[in-house]
Amino acid sequence: MKMHRAEEIWLIVGVAILVLSMVFTGYQAFAQGMAPPSNTETLDPQKVDEHAPFDNPGVFEIGENEYEVVMTLQAFSFTPNEIEISAGSEVHFTLTSKDVVHGFQVAGTNINAMVTPGYIQRISQKFDEPGEYLVLCNEYCGAGHQLMATTITVK
Ligand code: CUA
Repeated sequence: MKMHRAEEIWLIVGVAILVLSMVFTGYQAFAQGMAPPSNTETLDPQKVDEHAPFDNPGVFEIGENEYEVVMTLQAFSFTPNEIEISAGSEVHFTLTSKDVVHGFQVAGTNINAMVTPGYIQRISQKFDEPGEYLVLCNEYCGAGHQLMATTITVK
């Protein structure tokens, strides 16, 4: 059986587009690390205080211009609530909630995350510009929700 020339060309074009998009998507996912997160980390929300690293929340300098902030969120506060870092630093936030769903939004950055009890939320952010960054809970979490805020001071 002889295929039409035009049919043959379109078949090749179709397969080529399919293969190219698979290669492109694969390159983005594996070489550029753009795959969606798949390593869900859980903990017992009743025992946050006993679960490392949340048994010792705080701001830790882990390298030159690199910090880890281990933070618990609870009605209606952030622990630690005073965060000071130096300008140009990369900050790795490790977050969990001790009670209900809270929000973690940092004004002036792209950080805008849900912090859910039972799960560990990890976010990295570079802070180049000195200033006071407002941190807000943007998930309604109860009577004191509108009071739930803190700041990150970048010096
Ligand atoms: Cu916490 Cu709203």
